[in-house]
Amino acid sequence: MVTGSGAAEVVGAELNVPLVGGGTVRYANLDYAASAPALASVWAEVQAFLPWYSSVHRGAGFRSQVATAAYEGARDVVRGFLGGRPDDTVIFTRNTSDAINLLARCLAHRTTVVTTLVEHHANLLPWRRYHTAIELPVPATPAELLDRFDDTLGRIPGGQPSLLAVTGASNVTGEVWPIAELAALAHRHGARILVDCAQLAPHRAVDIAGLDLDWVALSGHKMYAPFGSGALVGRPDGLDRADPYLAGGGSVAWVSAQGAAWTGLPDRHEGGSPNVIGAFAMAAACSELRRIGMDAIAVEERRLGDRLRARLAEVPGLVRYQTWPGDPDRVGISAFSLNGRDHAEVATVLSAEHGIGVRSGSFCAHPLLAHIAGGVEGWRPGCGEDVPGAIRASLGLGSREEDIDRLADALLEIGVHGPRWTYRAGPDGTVVPDPDDRPAPAFLGSVGGATGAGR
Ligand SMILES: Cc1ncc(COP(=O)(O)O)c(C=O)c1O
Repeated sequence: MVTGSGAAEVVGAELNVPLVGGGTVRYANLDYAASAPALASVWAEVQAFLPWYSSVHRGAGFRSQVATAAYEGARDVVRGFLGGRPDDTVIFTRNTSDAINLLARCLAHRTTVVTTLVEHHANLLPWRRYHTAIELPVPATPAELLDRFDDTLGRIPGGQPSLLAVTGASNVTGEVWPIAELAALAHRHGARILVDCAQLAPHRAVDIAGLDLDWVALSGHKMYAPFGSGALVGRPDGLDRADPYLAGGGSVAWVSAQGAAWTGLPDRHEGGSPNVIGAFAMAAACSELRRIGMDAIAVEERRLGDRLRARLAEVPGLVRYQTWPGDPDRVGISAFSLNGRDHAEVATVLSAEHGIGVRSGSFCAHPLLAHIAGGVEGWRPGCGEDVPGAIRASLGLGSREEDIDRLADALLEIGVHGPRWTYRAGPDGTVVPDPDDRPAPAFLGSVGGATGAGR
């Protein structure tokens, strides 16, 4: 058992949240795919490091040297966790979006980038902006995916730089993509491959060298290190001669009145003062995930994912979204709708009356939502009138069977009896309790925060 109160404790595991009408309940966090809680071990490491936190690189003080060692050492830990080759570069970014934009800015102008409409916007829009993007339809099966990519890459004229940009696991359906086969296919056609590992890296082993991947992008906040860091990891070529992503201090070897010489990797693309704590926290998360074992994590999360789908199947009128037939390999993510009810209302009722945290909307994957929910009768608009929305429950370390059962029981109740409280439309398609008598935690006052909570 690697979850719950076992080997991998998460910060806030026993957090109680207020309910409308009074009372509190332990928060059932089913929103890991958006942002995962910090691992307790990550938090402990960050606290141990904090007194040593200081400027990195050119600071002469002992603290600076310790902080520099921690920051630079974090690259090796992240590279090792991802099975990187010794010469793979690890460039710290803000998140996956930042990492993919960085790669998009570095690749040869007008590279042909082949992708699909399954992708998160972070793995669609940068290619549209900087390159020749070919976005294939949502594949009905993994075999169709491979065939279509094979056909499309085969039509790209020889000598034209090309890239396959694919997800490791869908942030809507959880379906795990056949990245070993995709890498082999890309390389057979002389293309490179980027894998968006935002949803894969926290839940499954990623082996860059073993799978022969060129680049992977990932986010610390989805892998239990919510301190503002992400990374682009992979081949240095293509990145080492490109103009710096952020021109400024740190990315230059020298500057004169006439010009400047950019420095090498990884500093070349890390202009400005880096997020030392974020990188350190990400490395701490990698170490802890390695200690627990990604295979053990995958086994436990498959078990919980099976339970989630089984319990959701018991809810009358619930439609779960999937693009591939049968029982494909999935990380612990399920998107669904309930009886044609407004997804934003269901999500708010789950929170306000049951203390359950899920996500609703279109999950920054509008083309995919249009494809999968569009065929379902009674779909409700999500982010925009023409984009369907849904509800998403997602799991990770710290998830418990009890959380899944609470979700299923609450959905059964909402489906049969509807909400117990009253609600009104909030801003931007949201739904809010009316009135909302839940008190906000005291610290929100101290930082002057404003939230829907307590209002
Ligand atoms: C598959 C996938 N790719 C990319 C991203 C973007 O990640 P970030 O918001 O951390 O940049 C997400 C975020 O949900 C995602 O799920």
